[in-house]
Amino acid sequence: MFSVLPRAAGSAMRQFQLPFARSEPRTSLLQVRFAASATLRLLEDCLEVSYEGTPMRFNYVWLRDHCRSASSYNSATHQRSLDTGSIELTLRPESSAVEDGQLVLTWPGGHVSKFSLGWLAENSHEGRKTVMEQPRILWNANVYQNARISAAKWDKFMSSDSELKKFLQNYLLYGIAFVDDVPATVEATEEVTRRVSLIRETTYGRMWSFTSDFSRGDTAYSQLALDRHTDTSYFQEPCGIQVFHCLRHEGTGGKTLLVDGFYAAEKLRQRSPENFELLCRVPIRHEYIENTENHRNHMTGIGPVLNIYPWNNELYMIRYNNYDRSVMNTMPHDTIRRWYVAHRELTTELRWPENELWVKLTPGKVIFIDNWRVLHGRESFTGLRQLCGCYLTRDDVLSAARCFGLQA
Ligand SMILES: [Fe+2]
Repeated sequence: MFSVLPRAAGSAMRQFQLPFARSEPRTSLLQVRFAASATLRLLEDCLEVSYEGTPMRFNYVWLRDHCRSASSYNSATHQRSLDTGSIELTLRPESSAVEDGQLVLTWPGGHVSKFSLGWLAENSHEGRKTVMEQPRILWNANVYQNARISAAKWDKFMSSDSELKKFLQNYLLYGIAFVDDVPATVEATEEVTRRVSLIRETTYGRMWSFTSDFSRGDTAYSQLALDRHTDTSYFQEPCGIQVFHCLRHEGTGGKTLLVDGFYAAEKLRQRSPENFELLCRVPIRHEYIENTENHRNHMTGIGPVLNIYPWNNELYMIRYNNYDRSVMNTMPHDTIRRWYVAHRELTTELRWPENELWVKLTPGKVIFIDNWRVLHGRESFTGLRQLCGCYLTRDDVLSAARCFGLQA
């Protein structure tokens, strides 16, 4: 069972780590300086800083490029003022020292750059490759239910920033979060989503309303069961956040299925690192064509099923939609065979009943789903069922979380 990803995925991630050059540089040691808390070695193509037992290497152009002086950098907006194109690529500092916990470099021409050793440690490649960009709690049905995450309540959610922050923290950790007691109208649903972020308008509109009337070509507009999937896999950038609100249902069935795609993918990484790697590496195409009286669309999105950051191998997006997967023609036949094996293993993991969280959406309960992580589906249903919702812009949700001081 997984708990927090950094601990749970650690062993698997180590197996998967990209090779990091450990060999000594070809260049000779030019200068050695000792300070109370750090050792510096000026090598021909980089500066090596040994700080708190960890050697880190910084390219000289990188150091000048990341100078935090007022003439080089706007500390309020974190934007660069320096023209990187003006830096001589063979640049080297004339002198270096550690003073009061800061690395001090003097460049030809006299410009001085200062970096705190803590900042360097945090921003070095050596530091970043062991840190998660976004801490998460991976879950199967038991893990999520035992966590007993309480839903936010409409009144408090709309008026209290601390309630919104708690909601966002739950959302970041689990990839799903709920608000209860929302009036069962499209307008109130829009209001509750705008409390979180901007709405991402798509071909389905700004706020969409699902009824089982086949008004659009997409399978979602039927009464059929839908297997687990991520939405808009046929967009170049799939929608980041999905919002659902069941406004009305007079009939049976229609429960919503949720599966943590990262939980399943990490299981795959542990069991079959080579299959995990293949699903990360091979881009495939998804496609959606609509040709009705009112709507003409031809969407294609290309990317691998699993997406990881290359410096720390952390998952950041799963693109899994068997309905929308297009012709498989982006790889040679021998890779195709291995890809189907890998895809089957991931599918088996995604389909384990213990990984399925079933939720009955009732009027008043609004769910927010991380569409880059959590797959959704539904059982078939009878009767009139009206569901509304929208997509949110991922950038703005994550920005809202960061503005509350959350790691996102
Ligand atoms: Fe969907």
